[in-house]
Amino acid sequence: MLIRVITHDDVLSIRALEQRSETAAHWAQHEYDALFVPDAPPRIALVAASESDVAQLYGFVIVRCAPGDWEIENVVVAQEHQRLGIGTKLIRELLHRAQCDATSVLLEVRESNLAARRLYEKLGFSEQGRRSNYYRDPTEDALLLRISTAIL
Ligand SMILES: CC(C)(COP(=O)(O)OP(=O)(O)OC[C@H]1O[C@@H](n2cnc3c(N)ncnc32)[C@H](O)[C@@H]1OP(=O)(O)O)[C@@H](O)C(=O)NCCC(=O)NCCS
Repeated sequence: MLIRVITHDDVLSIRALEQRSETAAHWAQHEYDALFVPDAPPRIALVAASESDVAQLYGFVIVRCAPGDWEIENVVVAQEHQRLGIGTKLIRELLHRAQCDATSVLLEVRESNLAARRLYEKLGFSEQGRRSNYYRDPTEDALLLRISTAIL
């Protein structure tokens, strides 16, 4: 398995992964297309791919690179490849890249999403706050997590 930067050819596969995942953030096609528009808000998207078939994707992470703080907008690993360390590898690579350009990395997560919360906590993120009733369908609070790149 290797981690590489997304290409436009990956979009169909990552959309399919995202749509199969109930707890992922769900984006429209134009939002994925915007990843490749030069003057769109800066983002980094990484995919976890098979080494023997680079078009076969196991997961992805997308981060919005605002000055100072980067925000993880989505991270998804295909269900059949979960608990193999792929989510950890994707986020570690992202944190490695953030070290040079950001002071912290932030994200919001559903309070009930224990798999994602454990992943982030293991990587050193800590809770900074809560947004009440932030999510819809079902309505639920978001926890705001943060890691300072100074501790990496
Ligand atoms: C969250 C997600 C990306 C984790 O990916 P993953 O590749 O399975 O994660 P890893 O294998 O690197 O797991 C790292 C640690 O996270 C925790 N974890 C991961 N999945 C878990 C689960 N189902 N239950 C409890 N803990 C879990 C464990 O502590 C795990 O370490 P361990 O396997 O040594 O116990 C994956 O479950 C997923 O795609 N979920 C659906 C989409 C989603 O909710 N994204 C988050 C949006 S904020």
